[in-house]
Order: sequence, then C-alpha cells, then structure tokens
Amino acid sequence: MSKSKLSAVPIANSLDDLRNVVNGWKAGGKSVMLVPTMGALHEGHLSLVRIARRKADRVVVSIFVNPAQFAPHEDFQEYPREFEGDAAKLAGEQVDLIYAPKPDVMYAPGASTTVQVEALSSQLCGISRPHFFGGVATIVTKLLIQCAPDMAIFGEKDYQQLLVIRALVRDLSLPVEICAGPIIRDKNGLALSSRNAYLTPEQRRTAPMLNRMMLRAADRITEGADISAVLQHTRSELLKSGFDKIDYLEIHDAETLAPVANKITSPARLFAAAWLGQTRLIDNIAL
Ligand code: PAF
Repeated sequence: MSKSKLSAVPIANSLDDLRNVVNGWKAGGKSVMLVPTMGALHEGHLSLVRIARRKADRVVVSIFVNPAQFAPHEDFQEYPREFEGDAAKLAGEQVDLIYAPKPDVMYAPGASTTVQVEALSSQLCGISRPHFFGGVATIVTKLLIQCAPDMAIFGEKDYQQLLVIRALVRDLSLPVEICAGPIIRDKNGLALSSRNAYLTPEQRRTAPMLNRMMLRAADRITEGADISAVLQHTRSELLKSGFDKIDYLEIHDAETLAPVANKITSPARLFAAAWLGQTRLIDNIAL
C-alpha cells in the first residue's frame, strides 16, 4: 500500500492490497461501494463519489485508463492523466481507498478472455466505436470481481455503458447492485466529461449547443411533432452551429435501446454523439 504525496487516501496498486483492505471491511460488517473511473476527475465523478459516500460505509474509487476501450486511432495516449490532482480531490470527499492497478494487474501477459454484451453493444456508440463496449465490459467485470463490492455506481452520461454493465451483471450473476448517478452539466448545459479538456475556446462556445438543441428537439417531439422531421432539422442545425460531424442523433428505448422511429410508446431517450474537431461529445436526455 502507498500514499500519494498530496493525498491522505491510501492507494492499492496490487490485487492483494485491494483484497486485504476490502476483506477486512467486510469482516467488520461494512458495506462497500466501488466507483470505477479513468481518472481526470471532474464534478460528474465527484457527484458519484458523494452518492457512494451516502449509500455505503466504505468507498473505493478505481483509476485505470483502460487501453482496451480505445481503438488504435483513438486518444489513449492523449487521454488526460492527473493522478496527484485526482488523489487530492478524492481526499476532499473522504474516499477510503484508491485502487490504481498497474496495467499487468488488469491485463496479464497472454490474457485472452473478454466479455461481450451483444445486443446492447450493437447500437449507437457501438456502431461508430465497435471496440468500445467489449473493452468496457471486460474491464468492469474484472473490477467487480477483483473488488467484490456490494454496490458500484456509473453515470447516466454514458447511458448505454450503464445498460451494458447492468446486463453483464445480470447475465454473469455477479452479486453487486448497480447504481446510477444523473448527468452533471456546466451552467450552459454542456455535460461534464474528461474529454471537454480537449476543446479549444471556440469549440467550448459551440459545445453547449448540443444539449440546447437536444432539449428543443425533445420539447417538439413531446408536443407531437414528427420525430424524423425534428431529428433531421436538429442534425442540420447542429452542423450549421459549428459541429463537424454527427455520429447519431436518435431516439431509443430506455431499457432495450431498440430504435424508436415514429412513435414513443414506452420510456425512451434522445441520444447524440457529435464531433467538434477531434473531440467527440455524447449526451442523452429522457423524453
Ligand atoms: O466511464 C468510464 O470512465 C469508463 O468507461 C469505465 C467505466 C471506468 C471503464 O473503464
């Protein structure tokens, strides 16, 4: 076990250290919640930590930038790594343990087992990032097995990821309750994301248009306007406002992610992924 220079929170870098601490808590009857992250922590992550703090006796935050959820052309190398700053933020939230595994703890040499959640991964982000959900499902399964928490929490900003994780927990009979935290936004509506750090000042001015236009589209659809006409109009408005490319702007069932083309008959959400330069933003709202 080690401690960061700036943080009072103990840090486990190995599986043995993680298990020793968690087993000790469990032997003492304490409930444990895991907050999995890739670091570069912002208020969205900290909101999950605060929910965890309220619900569980002990809170573990994992920090691991997972190579398997990035394609070779994506931003694995550039992804922000701010360990000391993250550790200081987590000390401020009275987190009990940081789990920062070394890469070979997560991917032993020769590792060849993966977890795929087929149906849910084939929609939305799974189309433009086909590697992504396999990488997420595999690492989250490992984190849940390694830490064996009573609960784990994920943000609704990555709503499809949340559904994929709920499905793998159900399908693999993992004894953990999956909790969700609401999307945390800047005052201007932009959903917080570690990748917002990539945006130039000009892109930062454009970025909030995504949520603004989604809200406008959702209002019109709720009032009964034709879904495909509203989505078509919103796509072209986003491109006019400065977005470079739209991966999707679609309505899907909130549980199954089945696409909704004409009529909303069960809980549904509007999902979007759009590019500003090299930065891909995602957002979703309930309808
Ligand atoms: O949402 C994230 O930060 C990551 O996808 C997760 C769940 C920590 C897995 O690497």
